[in-house]
Amino acid sequence: MTTPTIELKPSATPLSDAERQAILANPGFGRHFTDHMVTIRWTEGRGWHDGRLVPYAPLSLDPATMVLHYAQEIFEGLKAYRRPDGSVATFRPEKNGARFRASSRRLGMPELPVETFIEACDALVGQDEKWVPAHGGEESLYLRPFMIATEVGLGVKPANEYLFLVIASPAGAYFPGGVKPVSIWVSEDRVRAVPGGMGDAKTGGNYAASLLAQAEAADKGCDQVCYLDANERTWVEELGGMNLYFVYGDRIVTPTLTGSILEGVTRDSLLTVARDLGYEAEEGRVSVDQWQRDSANGTLTEVFACGTAAVITPVGTVKRTGAEWQQSGGEPGEVTQRLRAALLDIQRGTAEDKHGWMHTL
Ligand code: COI
Repeated sequence: MTTPTIELKPSATPLSDAERQAILANPGFGRHFTDHMVTIRWTEGRGWHDGRLVPYAPLSLDPATMVLHYAQEIFEGLKAYRRPDGSVATFRPEKNGARFRASSRRLGMPELPVETFIEACDALVGQDEKWVPAHGGEESLYLRPFMIATEVGLGVKPANEYLFLVIASPAGAYFPGGVKPVSIWVSEDRVRAVPGGMGDAKTGGNYAASLLAQAEAADKGCDQVCYLDANERTWVEELGGMNLYFVYGDRIVTPTLTGSILEGVTRDSLLTVARDLGYEAEEGRVSVDQWQRDSANGTLTEVFACGTAAVITPVGTVKRTGAEWQQSGGEPGEVTQRLRAALLDIQRGTAEDKHGWMHTL
């Protein structure tokens, strides 16, 4: 079966309206989960099968399940928004579905059809629609599709069984400070990914690889770590879990995809949104020396981070070995705020969706 129908087995004991409302009043990020999840299995020789929407529950795994040993795992992140008329829409799910397939290829996993990926997200959002926060605030429902190798055994090889799941979590701002600028530590000795590696795949291993440098950033008093390219330790790549943009007046630049940078959906969308607003928007190489120099001479006017979880978050203080400086006086810059508002207006359904990005259920 290549496109299994998702069989609905709703929970007999969903959270009460009062319990859910209490969570939605202050969801945080990734702390609470909705009443259901979608599961679809893949078995060699049989393909995708047994699509189900079931109550959210722990998984039971044999201790020798391959994902626990060799990290054959990929994931996605996308959001569902409440629109002014009360309906719900997700943002560019086909883009996440396509990236999920690309990540599968890199990790030797089976490729889920994009339409099944979207059907699974729709099934969960449709069932748990009451968990989509009210229109008008910063909150949305964050969807986390993921896939793990479930074959049991310790041989190192692509597994012959997989489990695809979608879970959902009501989400407020990713950073506790909301849109307050974040501080960045530029790591010149640790790298996130290497050419020919899997930096452009959305796999847990890349995030595990980022944790030590992220802890070092915290030791330096910073919120996030910024990685440079592995070969020259010169060119800016990305943060631990989000992409970067540099604002030069009316021109915005994001690091060119090199194979070791994740192709962010927000990153991609902003190239278009910025052009719609009359900015020049391009991909290019930005070195850390140029970043420091152009901030000092005032040509680099703003820097911001972007991602599904982070939306658009301004960068304030930047630290590297032997230097420290501030972007836009440590305040959210004007271009950053304008792009943020324009993107959120499309996502929340208060601006025209002229690129057909919103997917209604
Ligand atoms: C996202 O922005 O969706 C991410 O995947 C970043 C992080 C929460 C892992």
